[in-house]
Amino acid sequence: MRLQDKVALVTGAAGGIGRATAERFAEEGAIVIAADLQTPDASASDRIAFVRLDVTDESQWQQVVADIVAEHGRIDVLFNNAGIVKAYEAVAEIPLEDWRTVIDVNLNGVFYGCRTVVPVMREHGGGSIVNTSSIWGIAGAAGVAAYTASKAAVRSLSKNVALSYMADGIRCNSVHPGLIDTPLIDAQDADITAEVLAKTPIGRLGTPREIANGVLFLASDEASYVTGSELVIDGGYTAQ
Ligand code: NAI
Repeated sequence: MRLQDKVALVTGAAGGIGRATAERFAEEGAIVIAADLQTPDASASDRIAFVRLDVTDESQWQQVVADIVAEHGRIDVLFNNAGIVKAYEAVAEIPLEDWRTVIDVNLNGVFYGCRTVVPVMREHGGGSIVNTSSIWGIAGAAGVAAYTASKAAVRSLSKNVALSYMADGIRCNSVHPGLIDTPLIDAQDADITAEVLAKTPIGRLGTPREIANGVLFLASDEASYVTGSELVIDGGYTAQ
């Protein structure tokens, strides 16, 4: 039980990587608060409680975090995972509204999460924050201007949080998935998926659980010397 009785908050947890990670955490003994805009259609472990949270709304963060502290007394693990692609255009073509929406969810959502949970972790002697970036937070890609910019910013912000709160016992790392078989990929143009898959040396999509296993390590005390780092789980995409 690698997260026995740890209290973990996971965002974007109704499906895909977030859902798989919430389940993986629960298997390892965590008390999981699974937050999302949507409520999932299938039931999960009795160690997982679903709550509604729009990560772009700081007041909702404050309410959700206050509720968790009132019920469980602390938050040991925060997985800032909610994210969207929404727009595939480069800078000259992307509608301004789409730029703002993507930055708001992917970057500001992570900022609000860290901002709200850091004081709680600090008060209770520390914790582990994992933020979902992407291969496109490391490698460049044509088009997808807002997504790539947001994910690169998450990579950098994670190091900033790690260094800023080291003395408080808070670790912070980013995870960088490659092409993972989730509803996000189902919803995108098949040609884009085929193009990324063709550049993925392992020759297949990853599973949400393959990301969850990496996040579990970063969240757990096994990673006690790991902070400000980047865990790339991408079938070799960024090794080229
Ligand atoms: P998904 O679309 O399956 O799940 C994302 C979840 O986030 C959804 O349940 C959605 O309702 C939720 N969400 C969206 N906006 C939200 C908001 N404002 N507040 C709260 N929840 C919100 O996507 P997937 O693939 O599981 O993605 C999870 C993370 O992994 C995202 O940050 C994504 O950018 C990242 N990622 C995914 C990759 C992939 O190939 N699937 C590759 C690299 C990164």
